[in-house]
Amino acid sequence: MRSLFFPAVRWTVSITFLAASAVSLAQDRNPLAGDPKAAKAGEYEFRINCALCHGLGARGGGRGPDLTRAQKKHTRSDAEMFQVISNGIPGTVMPANGTNGQGVGMTDEEIWQIIAYIRSVEVKAPPKPLGNVARGKELFYGDANCSLCHMVEGKGGRLGPELTSVGGSRAREAIIDSVRNPSRRLAWGLTEATKEFPQEYESVTAVTADGKEIKGVALNEDSFSVQIIDANEKIHLLEKDKLRSFQKSRESAMPKYDADVLSDKDLEDIVAYLTSVGAK
Ligand code: HEC
Ligand code: HEC
Repeated sequence: MRSLFFPAVRWTVSITFLAASAVSLAQDRNPLAGDPKAAKAGEYEFRINCALCHGLGARGGGRGPDLTRAQKKHTRSDAEMFQVISNGIPGTVMPANGTNGQGVGMTDEEIWQIIAYIRSVEVKAPPKPLGNVARGKELFYGDANCSLCHMVEGKGGRLGPELTSVGGSRAREAIIDSVRNPSRRLAWGLTEATKEFPQEYESVTAVTADGKEIKGVALNEDSFSVQIIDANEKIHLLEKDKLRSFQKSRESAMPKYDADVLSDKDLEDIVAYLTSVGAK
């Protein structure tokens, strides 16, 4: 009996050893790299877990960047990509695995499948910039008045969201849509660790007990209070039950820039500027 059993145990030990070394290799390199079946499975996983933000085909969406760009901001190697997909990117809406209403989250193998898929759709050449960065910067702080409400790299207004990273975190088409149709999809505010979902930049109008009207954007809100920033960047902290009225609207506080106000070419220059800042 014993002599029969003993070799079986040895066999198990050596298999365990092999598996352990395969795992440590997998930390650096995708074990499924270049496997078309894995990429296909990854495409399916991607559609369920990621396309909501990164768009179908990974070409970018309203809330996440284009992942077909060869030049990525946070991730170069497969290992870095594995980290980002597992842990998310703190301070941004990029979620950690399993925190996006997907139940228990993806297995390591599924994450590697997704990485195989992303690599398979990557465009190898860096994209040609469509607009003129220097001119876009001039317009942003000048004629187009964007800096009245938006800050980029520490300069500009505060009514609208900070735009330093928008070029790296959202697709080009999505930025263009935010300028042409601000109310279609309101920007998300800062993600706070205490909040499950980031708040949107809703426009609000409050009338205080003594009849003063305050219009602006809600920076923060809970059941009892609301913090509003008005067009002069004054911040009001109001207790809701002391207000005469309080209304929220999904009409953006940002003016709609039609093509007769801002030409396609000017807008392309501004997007080129934001993209160049966002890629840093
Ligand atoms: C709720 C929206 C959202 C979801 C869902 C989401 N992402 Fe992201 N992801 C983002 C945002 C936003 C960023 C950019 C963060 C930044 O730089 O500001 C990002 C960044 C990334 C990056 C880094 C890109 C770079 O330039 O380095 C990778 C890779 C990535 N996401 C992969 C995924 C994958 C794979 C999934 C699905 C498993 C996923 N994301 C799900 C929003 C999302
Ligand atoms: C009067 C103030 C104001 C001006 C001027 C303004 N914006 Fe905005 N912008 C806002 C506000 C408020 C929001 C948030 C609500 C929304 O998404 O529309 C916003 C949102 C955005 C967003 C979406 C950001 C995100 O994270 O999704 C982009 C992009 C943007 N603005 C770009 C621009 C550009 C480019 C210009 C100049 C051509 C400009 N804005 C001019 C107030 C302004």
